[in-house]
Amino acid sequence: MTTAHTRILELRAELDEHNYRYYVLDEPSVPDAEYDRLFRELQALETDNPTLITVDSPTQRVGGSAQTAFSQVRHEIPMLSLGNAFAETDLVDFDRRVTEGLDAAPGKAVEYSCEPKLDGLAVSLLYVDGQLQRGATRGDGTTGEDISTNVRTVRNIPLKLKGSGWPATLEVRGEVFMSKAGFEKLNAAQAEAGGKTFANPRNAAAGSLRQLDSRITASRPLEFCCYGIGQVSQDIADSHIGNLKQLQQWGLPISRELKLAHGPQECLAYYHSIGERRNSLAYEIDGVVFKVNNIAAQRELGFRSREPRWAIAHKFPAMEELTELLGVEFQVGRTGAVTPVARLKPVKVAGVTVANATLHNMDEVARLGVMIGDTVIIRRAGDVIPQVMQVVLERRPETAVPVQVPTHCPVCGSEVERTQLIKRSRGKQTVTEGAVYRCVGRLACAAQLKQAIIHFVSRRAMDIDGLGDKIVEQLVDTGLVHSPADLYQLTQEQVLGLEGFAEVSSRNLIAAIDASRQPTLARFIFALGIPDVGEETAKVLARALGSLERIGRALPLVLTYLPDIGSEVAYEIGHFFEEEHNRTVIAQLLERGVAPQDQGELHAEYAAATTFDGLVAKLEIPYVGPGAAQKLAERFGSIQALVEADWLDLRQTVSERAAEALRAWFADPAQREAALAVEAQLRDFGMHWSSAKRTVEGLPLAGQTWVLTGTLESMSRDEAKEKLEALGAKVSGSVSAKTHTVVAGPGAGSKLAKAQQLGVTVMDEGQLLAALKKLEPPVSS
Ligand code: IVH
Repeated sequence: MTTAHTRILELRAELDEHNYRYYVLDEPSVPDAEYDRLFRELQALETDNPTLITVDSPTQRVGGSAQTAFSQVRHEIPMLSLGNAFAETDLVDFDRRVTEGLDAAPGKAVEYSCEPKLDGLAVSLLYVDGQLQRGATRGDGTTGEDISTNVRTVRNIPLKLKGSGWPATLEVRGEVFMSKAGFEKLNAAQAEAGGKTFANPRNAAAGSLRQLDSRITASRPLEFCCYGIGQVSQDIADSHIGNLKQLQQWGLPISRELKLAHGPQECLAYYHSIGERRNSLAYEIDGVVFKVNNIAAQRELGFRSREPRWAIAHKFPAMEELTELLGVEFQVGRTGAVTPVARLKPVKVAGVTVANATLHNMDEVARLGVMIGDTVIIRRAGDVIPQVMQVVLERRPETAVPVQVPTHCPVCGSEVERTQLIKRSRGKQTVTEGAVYRCVGRLACAAQLKQAIIHFVSRRAMDIDGLGDKIVEQLVDTGLVHSPADLYQLTQEQVLGLEGFAEVSSRNLIAAIDASRQPTLARFIFALGIPDVGEETAKVLARALGSLERIGRALPLVLTYLPDIGSEVAYEIGHFFEEEHNRTVIAQLLERGVAPQDQGELHAEYAAATTFDGLVAKLEIPYVGPGAAQKLAERFGSIQALVEADWLDLRQTVSERAAEALRAWFADPAQREAALAVEAQLRDFGMHWSSAKRTVEGLPLAGQTWVLTGTLESMSRDEAKEKLEALGAKVSGSVSAKTHTVVAGPGAGSKLAKAQQLGVTVMDEGQLLAALKKLEPPVSS
């Protein structure tokens, strides 16, 4: 056997295997780019050795064989593949072959339709008398799978055609795909539920469409785009674009990017213009497709093996490539999180050399099952940081070694601590979510200290002008600064000693630090860098609790009363303020003249949200849902009363099961003390409750009914309603003599008229804002 023959057999076996995985299992083992390379190598060898071509060569057929789980469908007209153009010359050659194959007037540019090449999977839809009768996959081009039930769940596939005049038998062909956003959302949901995530939108679309359970398909964000026709009982138009436009009239989705080009230069211009927009398109494309527009010309050109002579795919650079994982390094972030970063053998992905890729966290490493020395699939989608998507297990060398988290921080040498993450879902069940690794060095760790200070001084935090990353590095490396509080002790002489500073610049830096001494409370909280506390959460904390002191000692359960603060964030906040060194830094900041502004009372909105029945419900006692909580609140009105309640009383208020559960729950001293502590703290913060209704008492607008009508400019009507309710008012939809005030914006009609007629107070938006401002405690921003 010649060496060429051996290689041909090798390539065929490998391609067959990849095809099987790609088409049958929906689990590609290599990226398309690698597959294309092997395919081209085989094609070239076969071209040089035509006698070695066999009918079963992958070059002689379209794809894998059909799966047996769905019934089989024979395509009356085979579903073909497309030849590929990689370089501009390939396209020019294609156009020359087309021109030569046609009897067109010489020198006359051929008309081509231009469409994006969607990266999904080919589907045939059969409409009989305008009704969707059958959906099928391409399969091997001749025989596909019947996926009728599944295609029916795809939202943009019409179940019956619109309008009239369609052929009695009409088979349309197109691509089922998943948008980038749909893919991200699906993967996030899958990961959350501990399910399988997909390597890319194409796999997600294929995996979703070929579900034996069509309910799963229905839950997936699949889309269809029509690009051609198959079997028809009667011709539609005399051009490809004409056909598509007609199909669109009948309700089938076609590409919004469909264009007509005259000759190859216009095709190339299309290729480049779509290429520039590739990242901003809502879906992934792997190239563009050019088709001779005239149907008669298509017929004249015909087919070569299983590809049309009248169409070609012009491919974009692949977004996925194979490379080797040389090692894994660990980076330390602001909160001490130790995260793995892949060091790769440099590889060009979509035109950019990639040498590092994110691995997110150790759970991701475990999920991927990646080892150092592995060949991995790297994906660079758009402007996103390159990611390691998959391991090619077949290529794992014997020398591969597992990835290990260092026991000590690579920056400061402190111990790395492993925390098991427990994630609570809405119900009562708990789901373990893996582990995080953190360097315990905190501000003693230069990496964390630098990141903490960079964050502390940033524009949206303390906003210290002129304190760039490089300066922070110097301040830490020279030992001038050991915590954010040390910034407020810096002298001009010390700054002068740093690289790049002179008289004026050092004076300016000290002045900028000085000028940051009076941040809003929200900015100050944000600047502290509490894990999971972003700007919005910081604003919520400042606004609701109104003082650093209250925020600092709030119990986690008390914090969960705040909008958008769940138990995990609440725990992080509580934990942060418990830590000795955090308390020290905060104390030093205050000592050194940092004075968070606008501190004041507990906010009325928070007070109104803090109901006793809410607390009872939050305790998550079995069988005690919101309904039972409400009854308990009305009957007992305090945790102490609930703890002391006698059995009969309990039984008369809630079900026996709930009463027993309550007893058992409060019998646990730790639980009882915790609940009492929360109640005591809420009272201490200014709450006084016995039931939901009574918390309104004492609020400035208690007992008043307000009506909002017309449009408001500075806020939505819902927001205005919320604000009024937080102040104790009832907001109603209709005006009566009992109405206290009507707020009328532009467009107000009958309600305003009625208010005037009844002599009810009427305010405009400006007056409302003034009133709210007067009644609401100051709000931090
Ligand atoms: S035309 C005879 N147009 O690419 C022509 N195909 O390798 C058959 N594809 O199986 C295909 N977008 O899954 C055509 N606008 C488009 C396409 C497209 C994506 C896929 C399709 C086909 C494969 C061809």
